[in-house]
Amino acid sequence: MLGSSHRRRRGAEHLSVNPLFAQGSVMAPIPARRLPDGEMSSAAAYQIIHDELMLDGNARQNLATFVTTWMEPEVGILMAECLPKNMIDKDEYPQTAELEHRCVSMLADLWNAPDPSKAPGCSTVGSSEACMLGGLAMKRRWQQKRKASGKSTAKPNIVMGINVQVCWEKFANYFEVEPRQVPMAGDRFHLTGEEAVKLVDENTIGVVAVLGSTFDGSYEPVAEIAAALDRLQERTGLDVPIHVDGASGGMIAPFLDPDLAWDFRIPRVASINTSGHKYGLVFPGVGWVLWRDEAALPEELVYHVNYLGGDMPTFALNFSRPGAQIVAQYYMFLRLGREGYRLVHSVCRDVAGGIAAKLAELGPFELITDGSQLPVVAFRVKAGIDNFTVFDVSRRLRERGWQVPAYTFPADRGDLAVLRIVVRNGFSHDLAGLFLADLERLLPELEHQAEPIDKALATSFRH
Ligand SMILES: Cc1ncc(COP(=O)(O)O)c(C=O)c1O
Repeated sequence: MLGSSHRRRRGAEHLSVNPLFAQGSVMAPIPARRLPDGEMSSAAAYQIIHDELMLDGNARQNLATFVTTWMEPEVGILMAECLPKNMIDKDEYPQTAELEHRCVSMLADLWNAPDPSKAPGCSTVGSSEACMLGGLAMKRRWQQKRKASGKSTAKPNIVMGINVQVCWEKFANYFEVEPRQVPMAGDRFHLTGEEAVKLVDENTIGVVAVLGSTFDGSYEPVAEIAAALDRLQERTGLDVPIHVDGASGGMIAPFLDPDLAWDFRIPRVASINTSGHKYGLVFPGVGWVLWRDEAALPEELVYHVNYLGGDMPTFALNFSRPGAQIVAQYYMFLRLGREGYRLVHSVCRDVAGGIAAKLAELGPFELITDGSQLPVVAFRVKAGIDNFTVFDVSRRLRERGWQVPAYTFPADRGDLAVLRIVVRNGFSHDLAGLFLADLERLLPELEHQAEPIDKALATSFRH
């Protein structure tokens, strides 16, 4: 948590206790921002916090997030059983460590690693940490190669589309790598091979390809980017690896697009991350990062911890972390298998396709994406409509509890403002029908509005 100058103050300075819980002595207001002098009963503490959290809104109506908002009750029991376990204590909790290993092996197989039993990988807090680790490995490999040939390591850069999630800007900033971002242009909303190679030079540690883009759910063409880099290597000798940020698509494409080569089938793909807590179907926070083989992960980045009296290699930014999410990931893998994931995600894709079709019929909207890659629908208000904006639509949907973000695209399409719906497991055809009925009901009012109300709400929405 940042210092007070960065903190926004919201809400009460004091908390009140319902007389049912007060038991006489704690009727006095309790400070909300200072450690209270005394104790209170567990029931009172629970009720106060429970009541305040009602204001968070209903997670299932949150169509903004990629992150899992529903899991079946059995996994809740398993996670509660694991709450006391720290996953870093590999020696004390060897079985949790074993389940993490099994998940890595399953992902290595799913992502077609040349030898799944040898692909190094680990769990992380989420994709952000996973991307930092992927980026760090690329930086270190580039440094090693440069040093070995007596060249400068002073100016590393990393090439990506401007549509990357903010974690890549953080990586570049925190680890002092120049971010080289390809802007959007016209109807091109993500990176292409042709654009990527224009920014690559001898100081490029790697290219990030996103499957799929946070802004609109489209897949970046990983194979095409790799082919462009192959041609660059033939011409110049530069051998630039790719990290695939599969935060969402890493758990969609293997099940719904098995013939799409985006993973370790492409020799240039050195590492891949995904968020277990997105289409891996686990509550936050768990992510995964894997390398194609041991050569792709420099040994000097790996730390060794004691494990059952033996040695366990680890690579992470954090140390202590809950084991429950890892166990929940293993539960989901076991519970659904390939066919189960395929079924769950195809329902999401169907629902997204249905929403897209209906949105196109409604009249004032134009689709940017139709849910046929990530189950995500991005859409805009048609050009020429100037009495309401996507920001008005977003605000009005909130009145019925639906959280649909509206935001502008980054450079050079900052003129384009869109709404985005992320379809996740649990957002059924029935719920989608209710959502669309609400949208249809409020449209006449928007269409009769004299001018936009929320015209200046442009945000740099990045999740
Ligand atoms: C493409 C992409 N990369 C990285 C992230 C960061 O993921 P996490 O929230 O798991 O840290 C996201 C989050 O939406 C994303 O969409």
